[in-house]
Amino acid sequence: MGASDTRRVLVTGATGLIGVRLVRALRDEGYAPQCLSRDVARAAQRLPEGAEAVAWNGRTPPRGALAGTAAVVHLAGEPVFAGRLTARRRAAIRDSRIVSTRQLVQSMGELPAAERPGAFLCASAVGYYGSRGDEILDEASPPGTGFLAEVCVDWEAEAARATAAGVRTCSLRIGIVLAREGGALPKMALPVRLGLGGPLGDGRQWVPWIHVDDLVALMLTVVRDARADGVVNAVAPEPVRNLELTRAIARVLRRPALLRAPAFAVRAALGELAEELLGSRRVLPKRASELGFRFRHPTLETALAAELAGS
Ligand SMILES: NC(=O)c1ccc[n+]([C@@H]2O[C@H](COP(=O)([O-])OP(=O)(O)OC[C@H]3O[C@@H](n4cnc5c(N)ncnc54)[C@H](OP(=O)(O)O)[C@@H]3O)[C@@H](O)[C@H]2O)c1
Repeated sequence: MGASDTRRVLVTGATGLIGVRLVRALRDEGYAPQCLSRDVARAAQRLPEGAEAVAWNGRTPPRGALAGTAAVVHLAGEPVFAGRLTARRRAAIRDSRIVSTRQLVQSMGELPAAERPGAFLCASAVGYYGSRGDEILDEASPPGTGFLAEVCVDWEAEAARATAAGVRTCSLRIGIVLAREGGALPKMALPVRLGLGGPLGDGRQWVPWIHVDDLVALMLTVVRDARADGVVNAVAPEPVRNLELTRAIARVLRRPALLRAPAFAVRAALGELAEELLGSRRVLPKRASELGFRFRHPTLETALAAELAGS
């Protein structure tokens, strides 16, 4: 059987915010999602019906798991915004992404050519660009500086090695994912609900965002479309400044958002991680447009209304 004859898609990090939604969409599209998790009992509870949970150690895929898959989607990684960037957390954030990617790619290369995955889709992040003021950024822009930029550069380089094994490979530079059930949006909405919301720093920093349904649809496009390779920015076509984002959340929730969090206070609370929230990334989805991808939620108002209205 040729690599892309099968409907099996292997997903790591499938129990996370993006993974659960992706796995449901894959299943609904007739794929057979197989999910690698460090905790299969928990995974069985979180994953939608029809998805199979398979144990792994977060680094090395089980023997044979990749053989004959239509695609491998690698989303696993230690959460970035879960606390200060201590040396230990830095190592966990790096290794959980880079070592696992290296191991997945090595396992692909060890398979007979006919059994290699049809595609390798690996997460990355807009953190790749560092902080760039008002500069317009697309996939061809060089990387920025800082811890997350370095992680993304190394992570994408590991993923790109799969092309040497003849596997179509795509790194998705994902923006802030807007979803009601987790990630950044509930954290941004909570202070607004409590009447304590407001912009971070001067609020002028650009925030690249994407509605979770559009991200999942873009991932399905990459799985299917043989033209999709290299790097694809997974961001909506209209990045907004942090001030606009905060105001839009407040409008949808019908609450005020007048309390500015000064940059020094954000830095005092979060240390170096604050730069990820204060940094500016005006990122555009050039490759997605070239692939003819159509966003269901191209504007912030409809994306926020879909996730927050009535909540
Ligand atoms: N959400 C966003 O806004 C966003 C933006 C840019 C980039 N991304 C990237 O996209 C990927 C998926 O994001 P997400 O928001 O869905 O992540 P998430 O909700 O934090 O889930 C990631 C999954 O990775 C696994 N995991 C966690 N820590 C791990 C570790 N130390 N070693 C190995 N596996 C570990 C967990 O699965 P098990 O416990 O089942 O093993 C977890 O469910 C991540 O790499 C993230 O950096 C996300």
